Formats: sequence, C-alpha cells, structure tokens
Amino acid sequence: MKRFTIIRPDDWHLHLRDGAHLRAVLPDTARRFARAIVMPNLKPPVTTVKLALAYRDRILAALPAGARFEPLMTLYLTDGTLPGEIAAARASGTVHAVKYYPAGATTHSDAGVTDIAKCGPALEAMEKHGLPLLVHGEVTDPDVDVFDRERVFIERVLAPLVARHPGLKVVLEHITTREAAEFVRAAPPRVAATITAHHLLLSRNALFAGGVRPHHFCLPVLKRESHRQALLRTATSGHPGFFLGTDSAPHARQTKETDCGCAGIYSAHAGIELYAEAFAAAGALDRLEGFASRYGAQFYGLPVNAGTITLAEESWPVPADIPFGADRLVPLRAGEQVKWKIV
Ligand code: NCD
Ligand code: ZN
Repeated sequence: MKRFTIIRPDDWHLHLRDGAHLRAVLPDTARRFARAIVMPNLKPPVTTVKLALAYRDRILAALPAGARFEPLMTLYLTDGTLPGEIAAARASGTVHAVKYYPAGATTHSDAGVTDIAKCGPALEAMEKHGLPLLVHGEVTDPDVDVFDRERVFIERVLAPLVARHPGLKVVLEHITTREAAEFVRAAPPRVAATITAHHLLLSRNALFAGGVRPHHFCLPVLKRESHRQALLRTATSGHPGFFLGTDSAPHARQTKETDCGCAGIYSAHAGIELYAEAFAAAGALDRLEGFASRYGAQFYGLPVNAGTITLAEESWPVPADIPFGADRLVPLRAGEQVKWKIV
C-alpha cells in the first residue's frame, strides 16, 4: 500500500457557518487541518474585530474535546470599512485578512463592496499593516457570461487594483481558470491564489453528468476541462504563490435541491484526501506538502505547523448524506469512494 507523510496542513479558505451547523462541520476540518482562514460571510457578516473575536470564541467552544485547531479570523469588507478597523484587526493578533466580496457575487455577499474604488482608505490601511486582501474574483455584471466572470474580473478590477496599491498583499481565492493562474504567476510575490480540490478534480461536465447536479454547483462555477488541467499543472508546479484552500461551503440539502439552489460544495470531510487524489493523478504527491503545509503559512507570515499527518492509498466510502444540525448535507463524492485515507 502506498503511503506518505506531510507536515500537518492548513486550509486557507473555509466556511464554518455558525451555531448547530458550525458544530456539525468543524470536527471534519479540525481532524485534518491545524489552522484555517475562516470566511466572514455569516448573516449578518463579520464586519468588525469585535464580531470576529466573538465568532472565534464560538468556534473554539464548538471544537471537540482534545482537538488542536486554530481559527484564523477575517473581516468582511464593505463600502464603509474604516481604516481604524483595519488597524484594530492587525493589533488583535487573531484577525489575519480582509475578504472582498463584490456585492451580489455569491452566497451572503449582498453586504459586499459595490465599488472597490470606495475602499481606498481601508486598502491603504491594509497596505500599511500588512493585512492581506482576499478576493472573490468575479464580476457581477449580468451581461458577462457566468463562465467568463473571473477572467473579466481580473482585467477590469484586479489588475488595476494590484497596480493602484503597490504594497497590498492579495490572495485571489478559489481560482478556476488558466487566466487566473497566469495572472498570479506573472504578478509579484505579494499576489497569491488558493485552489480548491473540487476545481482540481472536476470540470463543468460534472454539473450535467446524466442530469443537473446541484451538489456540484459552486461559485466560481466549474470550468471546462482545459482550465481544470491548467489548475492541476499550477497546483503541482511547486510555485509558492499557490496554496490549499478548500472553500468547503456547507449548505442544507433542501437549499441546494430546489428551484434556485445555493452555491457551495462541502469537502471538509475529505479535505486533504481529495487533494491527495488530484496530486497522485498528476504524479506529483511529492509536491503536496509545499502546497498544503508550507506556502500558505509563508505568505501569511506564520510558522509552519509542528506535527505531521500520514495518508495511505486506501479507498473508503462517503456517506450519501451527513448530519448538519437539524438538517442533512450532501458531501462531495456522496455515495462514492475517496481513494486516500488518513492513517
Ligand atoms: C460560498 C458559500 O456558500 O459561502 N459558496 C461557494 O460556492 N463557494 C461562498 C463563496 O466562497 O463564494
Ligand atoms: Zn468561499
């Protein structure tokens, strides 16, 4: 049986939700990852340091006994975010980044930024304090084809933003296109990207395999196969500007299996195993440790974790659904096998 050991990994993009939903999903992440950047798109959103610290306390209280896991908190950027909030975030020691959702781009983004030009003072404060901006990189213009929204965002919004703020650290989150990978590769080291396991494993064909597949719907939406291959080449290239971010985004089954279903794929139940599959398929398991356990920490200026995890090539069945508070959720690969297992 093939097996390998890596430094304990981190998840640099995660949705944990709140309350009973938080308690349901957190053990899956805490079992695999030492730390995670926790997305602030709650209802209402986590817009202040005070709200972020209270959310952090709820996450710590929801951890299973004996779990060792550190939530790395983020603020939700709005048109009205004040520079003083950014300074307070840095001073807190527990808020590590600020998330930019274009208003209307994705789940719980209605309070997001209507025009990033309105955020100049907050962005200047982030440059000054070295706090990274995490970007949901899609335009919301209904005239732009949904499969082109990331590419157009890079041209219209991201490239000018990176040029306007020469000291700003930026992570283009959950990249889905060859153009995004090329943009980050050509940018200075202060610009990085996260890549999900599902965008490494699935193309948009998975949305329509035998019928419409709501549990494969996420944003940015899955792209054509040539983009998936470009992402896999990029993730396995050993370039330190690309690191692991699952974007595991749990939604109750009935909110996805409906006439206007939510965007988001739950992958935390196999959060590192699915990346092992993707890297193994590319013959690049030796590159997984950098991607999963080193480059993100380096970018955020944090130490690499102590401790290791070992993965073995051994299939295990994913349940058809799992408890999610009073609801159920359908995880990625539901009813099928995952090929790698934590030992
Ligand atoms: C995320 C969610 O459900 O919070 N959904 C998703 O499809 N990725 C939001 C996001 O990251 O865009
Ligand atoms: Zn996300």
